[in-house]
Amino acid sequence: MKKINYQFEYLKYENLSELDSERKKLVEASKKIALKAYVPYSNFHVGAAVLLDDGKIILGNNQENASYPVGVCAERTLLSYVHANFPDKKKIKLAISVLDTDKDVSPCGLCRQSILEYENIQSQPIEIVLHNNTGSVIIIPSASSLLPLHFDSEMLS
Ligand code: THU
Repeated sequence: MKKINYQFEYLKYENLSELDSERKKLVEASKKIALKAYVPYSNFHVGAAVLLDDGKIILGNNQENASYPVGVCAERTLLSYVHANFPDKKKIKLAISVLDTDKDVSPCGLCRQSILEYENIQSQPIEIVLHNNTGSVIIIPSASSLLPLHFDSEMLS
């Protein structure tokens, strides 16, 4: 028997103003698009903004449904659209903002798996930048660090 230890590090900034201008711009964009989230059932607004390797920023937000499980998180609304339209562009950084909580937030399990898929196919980490309504920011270097012992396409072969 052996014991396997898993650790990961992330950065936490108390205020958005401490960030560099590229990340600040991305977070501001995700905050703005969160206002347009379609969230009549939860009233929990989430916005996502991805920076592509050509410098483009693309936006998305959560989209709910009267049949609750049909609703889609902001991250997956955005990443599906982005990969459908710009499959050859690398996704460099993904900012996620929530407007309705002062708690530290982090992507749900489905979104972690989804971000990881795109990270794996581009062979480059996607940095995740998380922001809540206190203004604090968490930076996680890669989706893979959020999913220890994850399932991926390697296991299908
Ligand atoms: N939500 C997201 O958009 N992203 C996440 O990672 C977690 C949850 C949304 C889904 C739902 O519309 C609302 O937040 C409340 O769960």
